[in-house]
Amino acid sequence: MASNDFVLGLKCRVCGKLYPKTAARFYCDDDTGPLEVAYDYEKVAPHVSRAKFQARPRNMWRYKELLPLEGEPTVGPQVGGTPLVRADRLAEALGVERLWIKNDAVNFPTLSFKDRVVSVALSKAREFGMRMVGCASTGNLANSVAALGSSAGLETIILVPADLEKTKIYGTAVYGARVIKVAGTYDQVNRLCTQIVQEFGWGFVNVNLRPFYAEGSKTVGFEIAEDLGWRFPQHVVCPMAGGALIGKIYKAFQELHATGIVHHQVTTKMYGAQASGCNPISECVKSGRERHKPIRTPHTICKSLAIGDPADGYFAAQLIRNTGGWAEDVSDAEIVEAMLLLARTEGIFAETAGGTTLAVTKKLIEQGRIPRNEEIVVCITGNGLKTQDAVFEALEEPITIKPTLAEFKALTGLDEPVAEPALV
Ligand SMILES: Cc1ncc(COP(=O)(O)O)c(C=O)c1O
Ligand SMILES: [Zn+2]
Repeated sequence: MASNDFVLGLKCRVCGKLYPKTAARFYCDDDTGPLEVAYDYEKVAPHVSRAKFQARPRNMWRYKELLPLEGEPTVGPQVGGTPLVRADRLAEALGVERLWIKNDAVNFPTLSFKDRVVSVALSKAREFGMRMVGCASTGNLANSVAALGSSAGLETIILVPADLEKTKIYGTAVYGARVIKVAGTYDQVNRLCTQIVQEFGWGFVNVNLRPFYAEGSKTVGFEIAEDLGWRFPQHVVCPMAGGALIGKIYKAFQELHATGIVHHQVTTKMYGAQASGCNPISECVKSGRERHKPIRTPHTICKSLAIGDPADGYFAAQLIRNTGGWAEDVSDAEIVEAMLLLARTEGIFAETAGGTTLAVTKKLIEQGRIPRNEEIVVCITGNGLKTQDAVFEALEEPITIKPTLAEFKALTGLDEPVAEPALV
């Protein structure tokens, strides 16, 4: 296998100590700080260009020089390349001028942005020669590890909080994964997974493979910049659970600048979205606290974002402050309302995390924190078909009629034909 000279190693985010990239290591021995993949951007720069990226198939791997694999991807070669949708009808409803939806609700194969992180993590697991892989999950990650794991012939074991939506549990088991429901919160599931990793040495994508895994999220940022014509938006609103995605989108912008792909400095303001029933990071930002206070018992319909003690919470809050952005959280009712708004203006059915992100966007605009005349990108990260229960109560049950015109007329109150616009 070719060696990737661009990756310097795994760097501690607290003290900067560099560790070799050759092992599934995830925290610093000196201070338990999380590790992150570090690249030599001067070395990368001569090997990348806009034309080179654009000549490749439209998926996340067109940016492979800035991803941490040693060889070619072996898991999820078609992941990514989702649309950046200009959302004029939604913009009008929100009273803003220029708005885009980054639509990862249609990511391949499991309809969330998690396919990006999982394809990197499992390709890496194979490079390490691992056969048994798994994760702790709030749902979407479970779907993705199960699907991509089975496509790669890996054994998968997946642990989730027992109260997860049925659709997410069956949408994991269907791929043949071993699913274990744990009576506890996500944070308890995650602690158990850390113990499992230490005991058995398996490849858990968001535990010991986490430094590699998280890099996959950068491709959301690369795609946003490319689709805007190789530039950065002024404002990005992003959902937060563990707090990794928001930081990686920003890291992607910085890397495009560091490698000379985009000449302008990054001045994007980053905004984080959470549900009020589990808001450790937004509470931290709003209160001016340096570190988040863990939420012991999350309570929200937005289960995919319900992480009470987020691994990257500290870094997410810092990034939001440093870029001049902000964070907010919203009620379950606001989440549902925003899911309907997105569906009814843009024809995009997002899951509860998308409702959260859009409702927070609306709130930040109303607060005057995001100016109405500047460019906004809203990150929609998961599909509404997975959390349909959330909107059932807000929708009327359709009425059943007999298959007769009389019943149709009686129901609709329409006696005369309605004039259709003339076809020219
Ligand atoms: C749909 C969806 N959006 C966003 C996130 C947040 O990602 P992160 O944990 O990187 O903050 C998750 C995490 O589970 C998710 O499932
Ligand atoms: Zn350290």
